[in-house]
Amino acid sequence: MTRKHLAIVVILGAAVLCGGRSIWRANHPDPVEAAHAAALPPLPAGAPSAEPSAWLASFFPAPEGPAGAGHCATCHAAEAAAWAASAHATTVSCAGCHVREGSFHGPGAAPAEPAPAGDPAPMPAASAPASPGGHAPSTPHAEFRSAAFCASCHDDGGAVTGGEGKPRSELTAEWQRTPAALRGDTCQSCHMPDGAHTWRGFGHVELVRGAFTARAKFISDGQQMVGKLTVTATEAVGHRLPSGISRELRLTIDQLDHAGLILEGTHREGVLGRRLDPTGTTELFDTRLLPGEAHELPYIAALEAECAVVRSRVSAVVDPSHPDGEVVWEDKVLIPG
Ligand code: HEC
Ligand code: HEC
Ligand code: HEC
Ligand code: HEC
Repeated sequence: MTRKHLAIVVILGAAVLCGGRSIWRANHPDPVEAAHAAALPPLPAGAPSAEPSAWLASFFPAPEGPAGAGHCATCHAAEAAAWAASAHATTVSCAGCHVREGSFHGPGAAPAEPAPAGDPAPMPAASAPASPGGHAPSTPHAEFRSAAFCASCHDDGGAVTGGEGKPRSELTAEWQRTPAALRGDTCQSCHMPDGAHTWRGFGHVELVRGAFTARAKFISDGQQMVGKLTVTATEAVGHRLPSGISRELRLTIDQLDHAGLILEGTHREGVLGRRLDPTGTTELFDTRLLPGEAHELPYIAALEAECAVVRSRVSAVVDPSHPDGEVVWEDKVLIPG
């Protein structure tokens, strides 16, 4: 412990002490949670549109067709298998996105490379020649590869009273402001890579891991310990992290003894997410991050004599009834004794 370190400890300690006693309270969410995310920045130049076309507006919302996936699976096995394991399996059937009154609709052929000058214009992407025992050709719509397609269901608007009039969902408005959108990535780029009907979401650990970087830093004079866990959203997320309302990232810092057990009174935690009161009308806090934004969980506590390591964690809480969530990032540092 150098003199410089000690000075930092004292200054940081004093700042945190003056800043609010709540930091000292064990098991208490960090004070940043009183925060409400700032309004979205203005639309950047070149932001893609998320307006539904007239066709999309007439397509959604609509009652789902009667067909489930069973029939479709006989010919579209890959889509059916992926869909069956996805969040859409219990909520949107194949027909819900592809069939209206017996007519089939799909993305058509993938956009072709621009034809060299002089070549005849490429045929419009009429897909499916009717297959024997299959179905009539589907009508191609470029909208299937647009954000507006997903927004038809995922962005319900609906103002939240008490949340500064913030809409219940701003997913597409957020997306329009991300580096991903500006480089041409749509919802499908991340959630349906190569057209895969997987719709990987918050339950997909690898997807969530890529969406942030984390860094824990601590210093100690042997008696006090000061530090922080910083989580920064990356460009691999195409809206605020975590998206929506019910999903949360839980940040925790604990001192562990040699047996790996948490030492009493050393636990601190914070939440990245947007929480509403039980009536769903008032926003309690919104600490979600746009790509590039960071959130800090500050730490100051007595360094316990039995402390072997300081453990920092980020956990994905998919289901609020299991508030511990699944650990998606962890760091353990030895504290010089
Ligand atoms: C008997 C076989 C068969 C069945 C059953 C079947 N399809 Fe198809 N479907 C095809 C063939 C063949 C094509 C054309 C080749 C392709 O694009 O995969 C096609 C094309 C499509 C397309 C167009 C893809 C594009 O590129 O635009 C969609 C969407 C589609 N089918 C959805 C469905 C749905 C939804 C069901 C169930 C309600 C279904 N199909 C049932 C054989 C079938
Ligand atoms: C939530 C909406 C949704 C549901 C549900 C859905 N699809 Fe799709 N489907 C899409 C979108 C969007 C695309 C275009 C993806 C892309 O190309 O990026 C697509 C593409 C397709 C294609 C064309 C694939 C290709 O590469 O040409 C077929 C065939 C298809 N879907 C069949 C099905 C079948 C069968 C089911 C049910 C098992 C199903 N879809 C369920 C939205 C959906
Ligand atoms: C017809 C309505 C509809 C369309 C169109 C639709 N979704 Fe969904 N989606 C739902 C519903 C309903 C759920 C399940 C409820 C929920 O958790 O949000 C869901 C769930 C999801 C999930 C998982 C969320 C979770 O809670 O596990 C992802 C990711 C997702 N959709 C992405 C997409 C993308 C990307 C598109 C566009 C290609 C799309 N959806 C189009 C209705 C739709
Ligand atoms: C650059 C990649 C990227 C783009 C583009 C993107 N997302 Fe996501 N999305 C993610 C990641 C990573 C997560 C998981 C972390 C989170 O919840 O923010 C996620 C989570 C979600 C979830 C929550 C899934 C769940 O299980 O709760 C939904 C719904 C969703 N995205 C829909 C969309 C829609 C709709 C669009 C387009 C308007 C879109 N996403 C654009 C990367 C992306």
